[in-house]
Amino acid sequence: MRKRRQKIINGLDVGTTKICAIIGQSSPGDDDKLTILGMGSNPSDGLKRGMVVDIDATIDSIQKAVRKAEEQAGVRVRDVIVGIAGGHISSQNSSGMIEVRYPIRGVSEQDRQRAIDRARQITIAKDMEILHDYPQEFICDDQPGYRNPIGVSCSKLEARVHLVLASMTSVSNVVKCIKHAGLRVGDILLESLASSLPILSDNERDLGVMLIDIGGGTSDLAVFTRGMIKLSGVIPLGGDNITNDIAYGLKISRHDAENVKKKHARAMADSVDADETIEVSGVLKNRPVNAKLRFLCEITEARLEEIFIKARKMIDAAELHDKIYAGTVLTGGTALLPDIDELAERIFDKPAKVGAPQGLKGMSGIMQSPIYSTGIGLVLHGLSGESSNKYYSNGNILRRFSHYVQNFIDWYS
Ligand SMILES: Nc1ncnc2c1ncn2[C@@H]1O[C@H](COP(=O)(O)OP(=O)(O)OP(=O)(O)O)[C@@H](O)[C@H]1O
Ligand SMILES: [Mg+2]
Repeated sequence: MRKRRQKIINGLDVGTTKICAIIGQSSPGDDDKLTILGMGSNPSDGLKRGMVVDIDATIDSIQKAVRKAEEQAGVRVRDVIVGIAGGHISSQNSSGMIEVRYPIRGVSEQDRQRAIDRARQITIAKDMEILHDYPQEFICDDQPGYRNPIGVSCSKLEARVHLVLASMTSVSNVVKCIKHAGLRVGDILLESLASSLPILSDNERDLGVMLIDIGGGTSDLAVFTRGMIKLSGVIPLGGDNITNDIAYGLKISRHDAENVKKKHARAMADSVDADETIEVSGVLKNRPVNAKLRFLCEITEARLEEIFIKARKMIDAAELHDKIYAGTVLTGGTALLPDIDELAERIFDKPAKVGAPQGLKGMSGIMQSPIYSTGIGLVLHGLSGESSNKYYSNGNILRRFSHYVQNFIDWYS
């Protein structure tokens, strides 16, 4: 058997609360487990809801995160796989039909690409650009369901494609910061798709599953059915909104609200005793006061409910609710809130669970938290170049390194 070379990949999750660099390595021969060599995380002060609002602060955060990861790993990295998110991201499904050049000989790679290119010909808003195109299925002479149409004899080929659109200026600002931090962008991947890689199983993708990555500033949604991506979207709300609500509601500083949330908040208010109190530090009189725990949880539940209802509206509008047979998987830092799976079950009317990366080697398990799903997913995406279909239930879920992404990287940096 040919021995595979070990590859080292650096994933860079440019989140709204943290910038997180994760250096990982595949371990051939050991069930291809991912070994985490180093991780560096730094508060991301320069970003708001996935958009760069302060270039210098963002460059500084990137450098600090990468440096920490490098020191821990004992290696230097130059290329990074970058996760991109933000309110500017949108998605839509499109289809494109072409005449097959040699019908008897069958569909060629050029025919396949022409059909995808035709599907890309949509009217898009100024400043927006197609970041990813993921073929969902091909229809050969009215016969649907082909995942790979190459070689099929037919005269007409239709491609159904999931398109992810992003604002050119927003992406170029992130790319610019990374370059100014002395790094090279190897690839760009939508954050929700990155998070899905270490979290979702092939069976879940096949049966129909919704992933919601609830971070600090955004909640990223991805729906897969029959092994293919059907919907992706970004809701510009996350755990930071809960923190703000708690600060206003309990009249405490944002800093204290963040700590109170992590220590006491739950996603279901009726799971706590109505009389239970907690001590918080009131801003006005600068002394400890008692607050009702139930009230804290009501604030938390209300905001989460708003996020889930927005997600529900998105899947209903796309007529996907009845196709999500497996259920909902929650990840991202906010998924650490106790009872969040129960709340999701109530709103989506389906089974729900919290998902975190599993089966990793190195770093004594601390990376197995929903906080690191995106970063780990970016590393897996980078490594998948060697073991092409390993992380994708079907080879066509995520096309590796499309030349359109390369254009983004080249043009706007
Ligand atoms: N133990 C916890 N309980 C509740 N919330 C938590 C906990 N730990 C972290 N959080 C919240 O998770 C959020 C950060 O999550 P995450 O690290 O996934 O965000 P991010 O990736 O930086 O942001 P985004 O994905 O929106 O760009 C913050 O709002 C934080 O308060
Ligand atoms: Mg995130």
